[in-house]
Amino acid sequence: MAIIMDGNGRWGLKHKNSRNLGHKEGLKTVEMVMKYCIKKHIKFLTLYAFSTENWKRPLKERNYLFNLLEIYLKEKLEKINNEKIKIKILGEKKFSKKLNKLLDFSEKMTTKNTKLQINLALNYGSKKELVYAFNKLKKKSRISENDIDNCLYTKNIPDPEILIRTGNTQRLSNFLLWQAAYTEIFFEKKLWPDFKNEDLNKIINKFRNIKRNFGKV
Ligand code: FPP
Repeated sequence: MAIIMDGNGRWGLKHKNSRNLGHKEGLKTVEMVMKYCIKKHIKFLTLYAFSTENWKRPLKERNYLFNLLEIYLKEKLEKINNEKIKIKILGEKKFSKKLNKLLDFSEKMTTKNTKLQINLALNYGSKKELVYAFNKLKKKSRISENDIDNCLYTKNIPDPEILIRTGNTQRLSNFLLWQAAYTEIFFEKKLWPDFKNEDLNKIINKFRNIKRNFGKV
């Protein structure tokens, strides 16, 4: 399952007069979804936490987001590891030295865990990821789909079956463009901090009722 967690800023402005507090509230939904995945035996959860385009946001907001992530990992990494959750970062780690190190450490510490894999898309852009893959492959005379799969940040991660975007916007915003070729996409009106267990249940039930033909009849 992959998620574009949209709507934090609007939620924050509406309820707390602060975009940043919307991000803080959004973290609670992240924790809810992680628990949900473990309970329902969903093995891969990919979260769009910071895009290559998000660098255009004001420094204050960017720093708030990075700080939130840093505090979260410092506080919860041990618990995450004990719960056998694996953390994988998708995207180039171009943050502060401290955060880069913490992200590397989180990946290394949890690398053998198999209960749930959380792929955190950070400084992630699908076009950038494809360019990265093509550059790795440029010496080859023939390129297969498999070759591309194996050069993406998502190497060894199955393509998502479900992609959810909250926040009442219907686009992919440079997220998993290659990987979502056959993904079922669910656009949810609710803002990310308002997204609850029952909303996720509804989506999973809808997904279960879809006949997936993959081009066949
Ligand atoms: C998009 O909402 C959300 C983000 C760019 C950040 C997502 C971050 C979190 C959910 C919290 C932190 C997560 C981790 C993993 C520590 P938006 O700000 O674009 O909302 P808007 O469309 O209402 O402006």
